[in-house]
Amino acid sequence: MKHQLSISLFVVTLISCVFYSCTKDVAKNPLLAYSDKALLDSAKNTAAFIYYKNDASTLYPGTTGAHSSFKLKFNKIAATVLTDNGKIPVGQKFPNGSFIVKEMQSGLNAFMYKKEGTWLWAEVYNNGDVFYSVNKDPQPCISCHSQSGQRDLVVTFNYY
Ligand code: HEC
Repeated sequence: MKHQLSISLFVVTLISCVFYSCTKDVAKNPLLAYSDKALLDSAKNTAAFIYYKNDASTLYPGTTGAHSSFKLKFNKIAATVLTDNGKIPVGQKFPNGSFIVKEMQSGLNAFMYKKEGTWLWAEVYNNGDVFYSVNKDPQPCISCHSQSGQRDLVVTFNYY
């Protein structure tokens, strides 16, 4: 009886811990959550990112892509591999947990988040409206991003 009680207490504690850490960490550590909202929240954590070539002021015209003028930022995990003049060297892959955010002047953000060796793709407005959900088929994104010169499917390096 006593034994059973301590087991139940243990289980209850374990479950509360899991719930607590989920609700607490959602949208802070993107490894824990991949919803559109969580990605947007992570993207707003300015301190976790550096801008392309350490330049937060340049607004790229974006005329070659599917979007409007933009700034580009990388989280610190992604930034570790930007060793070729701000770019990832040809043939290298971004590590899991890499998060790349294209901030459009229009208020739309395009996301690439690396999970288990694969990019997750999404587009979400600053106000939370979802333009292209992370749960949708990413093939349209991938096919254009497979253009020649891409480095691990990242294409800004081709143009800027
Ligand atoms: C028709 C081609 C095309 C399609 C489709 C496209 N992109 Fe892009 N994307 C680009 C180009 C080109 C750039 C480089 C910046 C620029 O010139 O706009 C880019 C840049 C990006 C970047 C910044 C990282 C990088 O690769 O340079 C992200 C993130 C991104 N796109 C996400 C998406 C998502 C998510 C989708 C699908 C919902 C998508 N893109 C669909 C062409 C495309």
